[in-house]
Amino acid sequence: MTDLPQRFRIKSFGCQMNVYDGERMAELLESSGMRAAGPADDADLVVLNTCHIREKAAEKAYSDVGRLTREDGTRPLVALAGCVAQAEGPEAKRRSKAIDMVVGPQAYHRLPDMIAQVARGERPVDTNMPAISKFDALPARRRVGPSAFLTVQEGCDKFCTYCVVPYTRGAEISRPFDDVVAEAQGLVDGGAREITLLGQNVNAFEGGLDKLIRAIAKIDGLERIRYTTSHPADMSDALIAAHGEVDKLMPYLHLPVQSGSDRILKAMNRSHTAESYLRTLDKVRAARPDIAISGDFIVGFPGESDEDFTDTLAIVDAVGYASAYSFKYSPRPGTPAATMEGAVEAHVMDERLQRLQSRLAEHSLAFNRATIGKDLKILIDRKGRLPGQMIGKSPWLQSVFVDTDAAIGDMVDVTVTHALPNSLGGVLRDARVAA
Ligand code: SAH
Ligand code: SF4
Ligand code: F3S
Repeated sequence: MTDLPQRFRIKSFGCQMNVYDGERMAELLESSGMRAAGPADDADLVVLNTCHIREKAAEKAYSDVGRLTREDGTRPLVALAGCVAQAEGPEAKRRSKAIDMVVGPQAYHRLPDMIAQVARGERPVDTNMPAISKFDALPARRRVGPSAFLTVQEGCDKFCTYCVVPYTRGAEISRPFDDVVAEAQGLVDGGAREITLLGQNVNAFEGGLDKLIRAIAKIDGLERIRYTTSHPADMSDALIAAHGEVDKLMPYLHLPVQSGSDRILKAMNRSHTAESYLRTLDKVRAARPDIAISGDFIVGFPGESDEDFTDTLAIVDAVGYASAYSFKYSPRPGTPAATMEGAVEAHVMDERLQRLQSRLAEHSLAFNRATIGKDLKILIDRKGRLPGQMIGKSPWLQSVFVDTDAAIGDMVDVTVTHALPNSLGGVLRDARVAA
């Protein structure tokens, strides 16, 4: 019998859904009497909320576990959570003696029970995907900043051939519409001014993402709504229309394309073509002309030729992305692409990634420069490094640096004065008028 832990620390890796899960785990542990460890505190429970999306994810998790052992040989209780936990299951206990419990993304509402089991000398593993949703077992929302995440849909049925998410997160399930609206209200009551609706395929939300956005937009005190991540095939006309009609819905759309080559898109099982993707964006821009588009790209998928890669650069130019994430393909065990022929050589992948990223940076800079001189509202979300400096988000999700005595959570009017590929600088509009 060991003592129950008092102070916990949760480290979340990977996507925003993991960040959301980390917050909910923290609320759960707090409601069961524990406290979050401050940055300088020694925690006696560490939850590693892991991501499995790219290469060496499991190895990285095990080495993170290893580093938790203190100089005197003692260590905190360790919970392996998230997508590596789901993928590894009981194997994790064999691979590392320092792991006390293994909990998957659909089972973390059981953490307090599992901690009690550990105290009784057990090493529980729960990677079930129960029919009863964890959401029904979690305490109400408490820890809220000005900008909050809200998971509305989990899992994925798309089975892109490179991706582990359908295996680690399970089948696509949407939360009940009214539960989501109630949680949104709770977040706003707790101080949120912006809510980002989350799902691996959020635009496939069963009750209609457009309807959900319109319902949440009615909440007083909520200023901004965003959503991510969307699949091009699920961009419905109703959702596109909402972009033109709902003021609180921000002019920003993350719509991953992955490749500009139809041959590669087919091998990826993406169910869209370069052309159909561009047509979708035409409709989105017709509804909301100033919308910022962002995306994800994979270079070096098996069989990708120079010509295929040129098609990817072409779609980047055709769209003019405001921002984007780009990755080298990494084979994930158990996915169809992992056994496909035509592996792309490492140096070719490196070179393609570099060319793609410099092209994307040109477009980001062009997008950001186009906002110079404009007046916009930013939602302050953190302190800058310089004294008096704060950082906020523009409607287009750009980080804007400004000198102001406004606090985190305030909305302030700024005029953009300069632009970099990943940020903007601005001055307060009042200050400008006064000067
Ligand atoms: N559900 C989202 C996010 C999936 S994961 C979507 O469909 O867009 C986020 C990004 O990681 C993907 O868009 C893809 O670009 C990248 N990714 C996923 N699996 C990968 C792999 N095996 N190798 C390289 N990048 C990958
Ligand atoms: Fe993965 Fe494709 Fe599902 Fe996105 S849509 S989570 S890339 S399988
Ligand atoms: Fe990673 Fe799992 Fe998210 S694999 S990207 S943490 S769904």
